[in-house]
Amino acid sequence: MTTTPNTSITPADRIDWFQKITSPALEQKDKAMQVWLFSGVFWLTVMITIGVIEAVKLFYPEFLQGIPALAYGRLRAVHTNIGIFGFMSMGYLGAAFYMIPRLTRTPIFSETLGVLTAWGWNLNLLGGAIAIMLGFTKGKEYEELPFPFDMTIGLIEILIAGNLFSTVVLRRERQVYVSVWYVLLALIPFPIYYTLGNMRNFRGVEDAIINWFYSHNLFGIWLTALGLATLYYIVPKQANKPLVSHAISFLGFWTLAAFYPWNGGHHMIWGPVPNWVMAASVTASIAMFVPTFATMVNFGGTAFGTGDVIKRDVGYRFSLLAYASYVGTSLWGSGLAIMGLNAKYHFSSMTIAHVHLGFIGFGVAGLMAFIYYYLERGRKLQYSRSLAEWHFWLTAIGIVGYTVSMGVLGYLEGNAWFAGESVQSLLPLRYWYNVARAASGMLILVGQGLFLLNLWQTLTQPEALRSLALDELEVEERLAE
Ligand code: HEM
Ligand code: HEM
Repeated sequence: MTTTPNTSITPADRIDWFQKITSPALEQKDKAMQVWLFSGVFWLTVMITIGVIEAVKLFYPEFLQGIPALAYGRLRAVHTNIGIFGFMSMGYLGAAFYMIPRLTRTPIFSETLGVLTAWGWNLNLLGGAIAIMLGFTKGKEYEELPFPFDMTIGLIEILIAGNLFSTVVLRRERQVYVSVWYVLLALIPFPIYYTLGNMRNFRGVEDAIINWFYSHNLFGIWLTALGLATLYYIVPKQANKPLVSHAISFLGFWTLAAFYPWNGGHHMIWGPVPNWVMAASVTASIAMFVPTFATMVNFGGTAFGTGDVIKRDVGYRFSLLAYASYVGTSLWGSGLAIMGLNAKYHFSSMTIAHVHLGFIGFGVAGLMAFIYYYLERGRKLQYSRSLAEWHFWLTAIGIVGYTVSMGVLGYLEGNAWFAGESVQSLLPLRYWYNVARAASGMLILVGQGLFLLNLWQTLTQPEALRSLALDELEVEERLAE
């Protein structure tokens, strides 16, 4: 006798299917965060490689000449866009998908949606990067991604925000920790300034003002908030002591949220913009000293007396490098917004030094800190200490090399131009500083290669090695008390 399989769907199956989508089965836990996080690592590697190629082209223009897709102008836009939307957005959203369920004691609202949005974001960005390399661009800084790739980012972000925000709303933990506040700050206003920046059709000066309102919020609210959320989450755990003050964290959070959105105008100081735009943005940029100081005191105080952890834990060292770079970038930025200084250094390489201290020092180091933390505490895996040490030192020396070479060059350029020297007369001077920048980038790239090797070996290591004394949940609970 043959039996026909019963293919009808029972109500119980339906509930099971619904639960699978809304609250993930145990084996699916952290699936979305892994796709986001490792995609971030992929884009980081590609963008650093492109950064080094660009850096070489700036002192040896014949390098890879004659291939339109690899022309400097196209590569630069690919470098910035996959840096911002690939490496930093995806990597730190990976950290957010890790932190939010732990801080709210609630599973991600939908892991499936988290995974789908990550793949959608990846494919869209790949398409956008190829389009730029083929010569399609909207032609404005940080808005180069052409339609429909630009709009797809906005739409997917709304789905990500819905997913993480729903998790926070359904939370089992009553307290909303400072990292959760920062993630919400990153997620909620994004569609407003992103759409305004990418879909609008303003003219002249208005267009520039909107462009910088969008771009600055992209660095200040989206990327910085996601980065700070991550540092606020991991630093107390790595240091194994609570933050110096939760009140100071909230002072830092609210002043950052209040002042940063006004900063956009500082990219147009002395430009043909209304006086009030300039005055408001310069004031807000100098007022940024308050949240910077709050972060400096809070992390500095927490790190005080943790010398033994600094020696032992490479991940923690990366966190402190990110913290120091964040404070350095922000103080430098407040200084660059002073009108007299901006008049000298706006067009110089000083801005490039500031940008890279922010993105490599704070952005790259912070994400690496999170990944080492995740491997050790989240996955209970032991990575190679010696490879991680090499990775740390190559990255740290590379950051110092990049920042000093471009910072000193910017200082010399600004002063010389201000004294009336022509741009051409300074070209020979630029040569060796550009070589030093490319060499520093190369060190960072080699460090990244060692990190990838370490990551691969760690994730594929045999079961027997997967032992770590510390149970992550115990630590979470101890710190939450
Ligand atoms: C208190 C915090 C900060 C302030 C007040 C600040 C201020 C400034 C100023 C005044 C400029 C314009 C320089 C010029 O063109 O004349 C600038 C450029 C820039 N900053 Fe910051 N900055 C801060 C933090 C950061 C951080 C943390 C990052 C990155 C993570 C960052 C990324 C950038 C970028 C990408 C540009 C260059 C934009 C361009 O011209 O293409 N800034 N910043
Ligand atoms: C080894 C690492 C890197 C190297 C060698 C490198 C190289 C470069 C070069 C050569 C430029 C053009 C600068 C110029 O016009 O003089 C540039 C611009 C830029 N890079 Fe990088 N980069 C690196 C890492 C990063 C990272 C991790 C980010 C993160 C998003 C980033 C974001 C940017 C941005 C936003 C600009 C435009 C800055 C502006 O116009 O003010 N870079 N980079």
